[in-house]
Amino acid sequence: MYMMMVVALGLYACHPDPVVEAAKEIQFEIPKGWPQPVYQFENNPLTVEGFELGKKLFFDTRLSRTNTISCGTCHQQFSAFAQIGHDVSHGVDDKIGIRNSPPLFNLNWHTRFFWDGGVNHLEVQPINPIQNPVEMDENFGNIIQKLKNDADYPKRFAAVFGNDSITSQRILKTLAQFMGMLVSSHSKYDKYMRQEAGGEMTTAELNGLQIFRNHCAACHKEPLFSDFSFRNNGLKPSVVNDSGRGHVTLQPSDMYLFKVPSLRNLLYTSPYMHDGRFSTLEAVLNHYATGIYSSATLDPLLSNGINLTPQERKDLLAFLQTLNDEEFIRNKRFQEQR
Ligand code: HEC
Ligand code: HEC
Repeated sequence: MYMMMVVALGLYACHPDPVVEAAKEIQFEIPKGWPQPVYQFENNPLTVEGFELGKKLFFDTRLSRTNTISCGTCHQQFSAFAQIGHDVSHGVDDKIGIRNSPPLFNLNWHTRFFWDGGVNHLEVQPINPIQNPVEMDENFGNIIQKLKNDADYPKRFAAVFGNDSITSQRILKTLAQFMGMLVSSHSKYDKYMRQEAGGEMTTAELNGLQIFRNHCAACHKEPLFSDFSFRNNGLKPSVVNDSGRGHVTLQPSDMYLFKVPSLRNLLYTSPYMHDGRFSTLEAVLNHYATGIYSSATLDPLLSNGINLTPQERKDLLAFLQTLNDEEFIRNKRFQEQR
């Protein structure tokens, strides 16, 4: 049975200026078998014009003080919207952050954002990189001025909202439309689960899936490959001594906990972990086997490490490769229009 689930967007009563045509609504599709997303564009009707404007803003360097850094500088499509080749992010004046740029996809299912969950709403999240002195170091007043002076932007805002007023809230809503549409659901694993063409798994991959379910899925929960909880997976704190979730809640029990990341698209998102300390999946598996650093908040599931035979390792790595979604990183819809 083929059932297409769509999120009810609700009718929005807007009265556009007579000269401005109403924006074209987009139905957000939940991939078959996936749970309901947390963010459902409530109070932010998803439209073609809104998505396109959000995309333009995402790739616009004028959102930074120096007009050199866009969201897309640190979140690149060929890297599943992570930043390849950087362990930690590089922002304005080549200032260096302390954390690895995470990939951006399936964000509507996240309950909280950032490695430490410091922000809990997709429409609020961009304030952080925009104002962060080592990322874009800009303020909304300046951005709005720059966009008002542009020949194209006022028209684009009018097409979405019915009038050409440019506000921080409108900027944030359209960015959320673009980011919310970044759904990655066409990996081999997805096709296997939906019994679609291209989803035939090899014996090694199927064996790997079983090993994954036995050892990893408690935290990296299917189908998003994260349960979005905060956990300490035994990384030894580095010199910057990033306390993760503990930095936000100030609770001793949250020290060194980080958000469980998805394991989709790992082929494109090296290096791994919140500080990008591992550049290969072999190094990640070595960590889980023999590198677990014991501390008060270490997750009990990992107190004895995860020991796999060489064959199990090979099969698990084969399975992890089935989570790469090439259609996602090549999808023209998400590309910058020049
Ligand atoms: C200088 C590099 C840089 C720039 C520019 C940047 N980001 Fe990020 N982004 C990061 C880093 C690093 C993190 C992780 C920060 C953390 O966890 O503390 C992040 C995290 C995020 C997250 C949370 C993802 C998750 O899994 O929780 C979202 C969403 C995001 N960025 C969107 C944006 C948007 C939108 C912009 C532009 C307004 C932007 N970023 C600009 C580096 C950057
Ligand atoms: C107790 C929960 C838990 C278990 C079990 C677990 N992980 Fe993780 N994993 C995490 C957390 C938390 C992180 C992020 C840690 C950080 O960066 O500080 C993580 C990070 C990762 C990353 C890095 C991803 C990225 O984008 O940076 C990979 C790869 C990974 N785990 C693979 C696995 C595999 C494979 C298994 C099973 C062999 C496994 N994990 C078992 C909690 C877990």
